[in-house]
Amino acid sequence: MPESLFSKPSTIVITCPKAVPPILAEEVRSLGFEVTSQALASVETRGSLQDAERLNLWSRTANRVLYLLDEFVVRDADELYRRVVGFAWEEVIAADQYLTVTSTVVHPSIRDARFANVKCKDAIVDRIRKHCGTRPDSGPERRGVVVHLYWKDDLGRLYLDTSGEPLSKRGYRKIPFKAPLMETIAAAVILSTDWSGADHFINPMCGSGTFAIEAALLGLGRAPGLLRSRYGFMHLMGFDSSQWQELRREARTAARKALSGRIIATDISSEAITAARKNATTAGVDHLIEFSTTDYAQTPVPEGTGVVVLNPEYGQRLGDIRKLETVYKGIGDFFKQRCTGYRGYVFTGNLDLAKKVGLQARRRIPFYNSSIECRLLEYDLYSGSRRSD
Ligand SMILES: C[S@@+](CC[C@H](N)C(=O)[O-])C[C@H]1O[C@@H](n2cnc3c(N)ncnc32)[C@H](O)[C@@H]1O
Repeated sequence: MPESLFSKPSTIVITCPKAVPPILAEEVRSLGFEVTSQALASVETRGSLQDAERLNLWSRTANRVLYLLDEFVVRDADELYRRVVGFAWEEVIAADQYLTVTSTVVHPSIRDARFANVKCKDAIVDRIRKHCGTRPDSGPERRGVVVHLYWKDDLGRLYLDTSGEPLSKRGYRKIPFKAPLMETIAAAVILSTDWSGADHFINPMCGSGTFAIEAALLGLGRAPGLLRSRYGFMHLMGFDSSQWQELRREARTAARKALSGRIIATDISSEAITAARKNATTAGVDHLIEFSTTDYAQTPVPEGTGVVVLNPEYGQRLGDIRKLETVYKGIGDFFKQRCTGYRGYVFTGNLDLAKKVGLQARRRIPFYNSSIECRLLEYDLYSGSRRSD
């Protein structure tokens, strides 16, 4: 009987949105793993599939947890088939499973990554059919085992995508409102503010409520993965369901029941507030968030300290930009007049508009929202905050 991958250490690559690796690396270290390297949109560590389960359950900023199965030299598609068919898939994937193959391919002989995908999938199912008499069904849905092929120049790597669906899909955002931020980016933003739940979290322009919900989960120390019931690793041979239930039980026990700070989320659109409330209910944190429909400038800001986070629209057309200039200028006034004692944050993809806030940013933290380069601007809002020129 070969050593189960659930206890066998290998390289684990954890992917995340671009620019987030330093934040993910901190998370991975705080979960007790050593970070062996960081790239533009990933962090590497070592561990078994059981460790991958823990990373899936706890990471707030990871998109996928990939467990390295095999690594080889590969020069063309026929060699890819031979390498993949040579791996003992019958020890990892049952013949009655559902299989999805995804890939990242950068190779001169491959013009269409789908071709490499099909070669890889054919090799896996041919190998299983040869050993078991039948083969897994396959398709794009990520509802069973997910194998990821990475092929760059002459290096081929085969990973198990232990997440299946990306972890940004927490399962609570049933109703997205306009331009919702990815849950993993929202969590990375909150981690960048160092907010811990001890004081207030204010989120005007909350849209579908992503910041407020992620803040509630983080403040409670609740594992974001508790919200999901399905992961790629559950479909692998050797998966121990009772061990996974134990990990979940420990996570539930570790979570706090209440927060000392208040979470306040507002939006000018009542439709957004209805969606955000429903999403918070699905996430099980609606009782912790005070929602109301109002202009951002009228958002209640309690006495004390905390963070105020706004994610205004960035604007595509000139007419929109003109209107948004007034909004961004108003955010500066709101910060100065209403948020003294807080740290203010604006998350935006338009740096020209950001200048209209008119306050001196203490930090400008880079982010990417899909392909749009963004900044999280931090303002220290003590009384008499300095205006920028
Ligand atoms: C980019 S979206 C925020 C998305 C949000 N971060 C999420 O993840 O769903 C901007 C939000 O600002 C709201 N908004 C626009 N103008 C506003 C105003 N003057 N006062 C309050 N909210 C406003 C819009 O209704 C929209 O929901």
